[in-house]
Amino acid sequence: MKVLVTGGTGYIGSHTVVELQEKGYDVYIIDDLSNSTIEIVDAIEEITGVRPHFSQFDLCDKAKLAEFFKQNPDIKACIHFAAKKAVGESVEKPLLYYHNNLVSFVNLLECMGDNNVNSFVFSSSCTVYGEPEYLPVDENAAIKPAVSPYGNTKQICEEILEDTIKSTDLQGIALRYFNPIGAHESAKIGELPIGVPNNLVPFVTQTAIGKREKLRVFGDDYDTKDGSCIRDYIHVVDLAKAHIVAIERLLEGKNVTPYEVFNIGTGKGFSVLEVVRTFEKVTGEKLNYEIVGRREGDVEKVWADTSYANEVLGWSAKMDLEQMLKSAWAWELALSKKEGIKA
Ligand code: UD1
Repeated sequence: MKVLVTGGTGYIGSHTVVELQEKGYDVYIIDDLSNSTIEIVDAIEEITGVRPHFSQFDLCDKAKLAEFFKQNPDIKACIHFAAKKAVGESVEKPLLYYHNNLVSFVNLLECMGDNNVNSFVFSSSCTVYGEPEYLPVDENAAIKPAVSPYGNTKQICEEILEDTIKSTDLQGIALRYFNPIGAHESAKIGELPIGVPNNLVPFVTQTAIGKREKLRVFGDDYDTKDGSCIRDYIHVVDLAKAHIVAIERLLEGKNVTPYEVFNIGTGKGFSVLEVVRTFEKVTGEKLNYEIVGRREGDVEKVWADTSYANEVLGWSAKMDLEQMLKSAWAWELALSKKEGIKA
């Protein structure tokens, strides 16, 4: 079974490619390598023993995408990760984000339609809930006005998908991820932030290894147990596995409605300071950090009600915060070794 994975050399995409290949799928990656490297394809091959097909181009190039589908007529399904994802950058360059994330999305759905590829899994985000009205937040919670163009592109793509599904043969699942962290147990793939990381865990591991001087904890005056923000962190491999379940649900026609939405998290919330302490505990490293003011646009607390995914998809997250942070650290150590050799 041939499956297209856009953004397949990215952080979540690469872990999903590994899981797909381990289940015997024939994976086709399209990635423009704007936020990843070709070495990830080698790493995937090292892990699984199979080299995924790889094409490097931007999905905004519709002619290239149409040609790709022409060359690969047996593709049956698509998991779509390719998108820009830096919140701050999206505020500075909104049109870059609207252009890239929306044009690529429309091109992909059009080309899929032209080629009768009717199974589609979309990577959405819990960012669509903003500051949720109730916790744990379930899929019926209100969608809040997005605080960033990045978040808005996720909302708009969900709407485009739902509208397209209503009027075509397309069947789709949107997975709303909570906070993916950690890395593959092989430490051959993981998150590769370019420049200074925006997200918490890469910043933590880079600080511990000495690439950053100290972690800044954004705010300790929130209405939470210790004053720092609470998130639902999920191991990237658990998240990758949710994609396999979702695509199989579509391919086997088990979906109840043509468009379905699932929260993908652990259902447990941890504060920033709990993450710091757990990291110190599992690695034995002392983390240099300071409390600073709040970061604009941060929600105070969010964690998932995952019962719908648990019951309907038959999927649940298996790995706990300690395992997530251990694997993130193993990945950082592996990266620094590689960089050391290069230097
Ligand atoms: C952010 C985005 C979200 C996106 C996700 C993945 C916002 C509002 N949300 O989620 O839409 O899907 O990234 O790219 O930007 N923190 C620190 N110090 C740091 C970094 C983070 O204290 O140096 C704190 C943050 O304040 C937050 C928590 O750690 O409370 C997690 O932050 P982060 O990893 O950036 O994820 P989100 O902000 O939840």
